[in-house]
This record gives sequence, C-alpha cells and structure tokens, in this order.
Amino acid sequence: MNAVLSEAQPQGRTGRYAQIVRLSKKSEWQIDRDVLGDRQFDFNRNFLPAGLSRVDTIPFLNTRDARLLSQIQGRTYAYIFGLVERFISAKMLDQGRAHALEDQNALEALVRFTNDEIKHQELFRRVEMMIADKMPLGYRQVADPKDVAHAVLAASTWAVLALTCHIELFVQSHYVESIVTTADLCPLFKDVFMYHWKDESQHVVLDELEWKDEHRRLSPEQRDQAVDDLIALVGAVDGILQAQSAADTEYFVRIASREFSAAEIADIQRVVLGAYRWQYIITGVRHPHFGKLLAGMTTPAQMQRIQSALAPIVANA
Ligand SMILES: [Fe+2]
Ligand SMILES: [Fe+2]
Repeated sequence: MNAVLSEAQPQGRTGRYAQIVRLSKKSEWQIDRDVLGDRQFDFNRNFLPAGLSRVDTIPFLNTRDARLLSQIQGRTYAYIFGLVERFISAKMLDQGRAHALEDQNALEALVRFTNDEIKHQELFRRVEMMIADKMPLGYRQVADPKDVAHAVLAASTWAVLALTCHIELFVQSHYVESIVTTADLCPLFKDVFMYHWKDESQHVVLDELEWKDEHRRLSPEQRDQAVDDLIALVGAVDGILQAQSAADTEYFVRIASREFSAAEIADIQRVVLGAYRWQYIITGVRHPHFGKLLAGMTTPAQMQRIQSALAPIVANA
C-alpha cells in the first residue's frame, strides 16, 4: 500500500523530478504547430532587445543600421544556443543513463530534457535557414557544435553541469527582464524565445539537482580540479565570443547602409564583444541563484580564483 502511494505521489528528490516531468508534459510544444508554422521574421523590427544587444550605445548608427545590428546579434543568439545545446543534450543523455535502473522519475525527466535540447537545435537550425534566406550572404558561424561539444565534454562533469546551469539561468533573466518587456521586437523572434524559455525554466531545476548530486560524489581534490575546468570552459566560451563578435562586426560593416571609419568600426566591435560577454557570461555569473549555488559548492579560495579569472572579461564588457 505504502509503495503504491509513494509511487503515485513521490516525495523529496524523486518528487522534484516527477514534478518536472508533469510540467514538461503539460507545456509540451511543437516547432511547426506552435512556433514557426508559416510565419516569417519581421525585418522591419529589432530581433534582440537593446538591453542585450546594446546597439543603442553606438551613437553614430542610424535607426536602420541599429536595427540591422540587432538582427545580426539575434541571428547569432539563435546560433549560440544551438551550439551549446549539442553538448548539453549529450551530457543529459549521460546523466539520464546513470539513473536508468534506479529512479525512473529522474530517468524520464532527463530523457525529456535531452529531447527538448534536440528539438531546440532543430528549431535554431530552422531559424538560421529562415533568416539566411532574407539576409545578404557572408554571415559566418565561427565554431562547429560537434567540435565544441568534444572539447566541453572532456571537462569534469561538475564543470559541465555548472556551465549548463549558468546558461539555462541566464536564459531566464534574458527572457523575463529584456525579451518579454520590449514591446517592438519581431513577434516571431519573441515567440521562439518564449517557447525556448518555457523548457529552460524546467531544465534549471534538473541542472541544480544533477550538479549538487555530482558535487556530493567528488573528493576535495576533484572539486578543486573541477573549478579549474570551469574556469577553462568560461575562457573557451570567451574565445568563441571574441571570434564571433569580430565576424559579426565584419558582416555588419559590409552590409550596413553607409561606410564607417576605422575608429567607428573599432567602436562597433568593442560594443558587440561587450554585448556578447554580457549575454553569454556576465548575466549568468551575476544571476543571484547561480551565485548562491556556486558559493555553496566552492571554498572562498576557489571562488576567489573564479572571480580573478572573470575580472578581465567583466572589465571589458
Ligand atoms: Fe535549449
Ligand atoms: Fe535547456
């Protein structure tokens, strides 16, 4: 009787996985039926809000060019999520496998998580094709999802889960604080990231459960190594952002409505790199919940190491 009851209403840790499974089933969406259908992106509107793109901080851009730069950044925004989702889905497949014979709620939650990320990658590939169709040739993606996944997954599980948790938490703040609150964005762009955010708000709960679990399994020495791995991963992310911001600036300058001086190009490049660091690193590490989790799983000395590594990135954003 008790066993039946506990199966029907699981409590504690397994109960949290079960709750996410229920939420995930309730909010399930499909790419064509719910999001893309026969819709198109509206190129008369901004894609990424100024709170993320910072295009409003470049005083010499006319309205048309500022909008174009927000659209290029929006295109990169979809690309970067598709990129990181390759390693996130692979990692969650492994995490799910580890629960396969035990906690069936955890297994189901992580299988659904993996499936969500596979769906998101398809969504972002479709988004890229739709946008590419309407923009001039020459846009470049600097990193291949498979290569990045190989490199990231070589790091310790603790570090990969920390990076994943950081990403999925900044999805929350971007959507809630900038995307949903900006009225004049392209409606389809807004919807793509509304559906994405819905899934990600469930994923963050699972990231936390898995990350804390992994933390408990590690020795102090392994945790110390994991902190170094996390620092290296953030450094690698920054390397991608430097290259992509350079590629995006080059593309923008080539297709903008007027020519820019060398000094203006340098300004644009600086703002775009700062915006990418803000989007993909700083909004994550400054997320209050991420800060709390990280502080709970590091020593003060390790936290100091992380902050020192981040300092040059934060200072130049
Ligand atoms: Fe995702
Ligand atoms: Fe996710």
